[in-house]
Amino acid sequence: MPDGAGLDFFDLSPSEESFREAVLAGLARSRKAIPCKFLYDRRGSALFEEICRLPEYYPTRTEIGILEENARRIAGRIGPCCRLIDFGSGESRKARILLEALEDPAGYVPVDISRDHLFEAAANLAEDFPALPVVALCADYTRPFVLPPLPDGGGKNVGFFPGSTIGNFEPKAAEAFLLNCARLLGSGGEMLVGVDLKKEKPLLDAAYNDGSGVTALFNLNLLHRINRELDGDLDIAQFRHVAFYNPAMGRVEIYIESLAEQEARIAGRRFHFDCGELIHTEYSYKYAIPEFQRLAKRAHFTPVEAWTDTKNLFSVHYLRANGSAGDGFAGFGE
Ligand code: AVI
Repeated sequence: MPDGAGLDFFDLSPSEESFREAVLAGLARSRKAIPCKFLYDRRGSALFEEICRLPEYYPTRTEIGILEENARRIAGRIGPCCRLIDFGSGESRKARILLEALEDPAGYVPVDISRDHLFEAAANLAEDFPALPVVALCADYTRPFVLPPLPDGGGKNVGFFPGSTIGNFEPKAAEAFLLNCARLLGSGGEMLVGVDLKKEKPLLDAAYNDGSGVTALFNLNLLHRINRELDGDLDIAQFRHVAFYNPAMGRVEIYIESLAEQEARIAGRRFHFDCGELIHTEYSYKYAIPEFQRLAKRAHFTPVEAWTDTKNLFSVHYLRANGSAGDGFAGFGE
């Protein structure tokens, strides 16, 4: 094994925001809402993997197609000896496409909040790329953090944020996230971001209301999680999944609707649900290419190039940090 290769693991001990606090506060609001990050417990994450393989859910396979098709061009833009920093790396499936194409990458830095999964995925990758130094970082990428010492190959820091996860932030929070990426990557830093494109409503409605009902299971799993972890007695059959594209807002809106007037006890507290009342669980914003480029500019990035597929379903943006993002932290507040 060449010098420097192998796996380093840094644990920033990200504090998990309390599910209990979020649910109790969210269900006490006049417009009930629970943050989408709580959809991803073990079962939720497995269901999301299934969503990614659904015929109606085009984003995953389309983005992979764009990355494969353009891997050499992207690698050419990035140049030799870069450090690839993968925000929310999961299985590192998409990063592998880039790593295969990059010229002498100096390091791969998967960043994920899920410690065990991160360790396993990083170890597998290190085994498959024996010459590549892998520096895994257990951290919450939605909060400010600093990079550990990284191998210096003389190349750039390049952030990678695929999957259109940026669309799950409200636009202001997406901007704050990118601004923090610009600060983290430092001057000369660049960023590759996967962004789902605006399109006709029927295609989007179908992508979030699949025929086999997996997205509904994924959304309603939140209620199972509440019952299991917070000693809840929600009657899950009395709720349904609701998702639709709101063209005026440019986003898919996802809710759980109460099918009856009902009460439930959660963590010792009583909650009332009107018939037809909605619990908001997720937004998935869609952007036209120039619209996302304007957002990136507000976050101190210069748009360099954007790749898309032949049907114009999805886009992958290449951005360059202006070097004027400054220090300090911009909050992600909703
Ligand atoms: C993770 N994220 C990009 C998905 C999306 O499309 O917004 C989450 C999702 N929710 C339901 N289906 C997929």
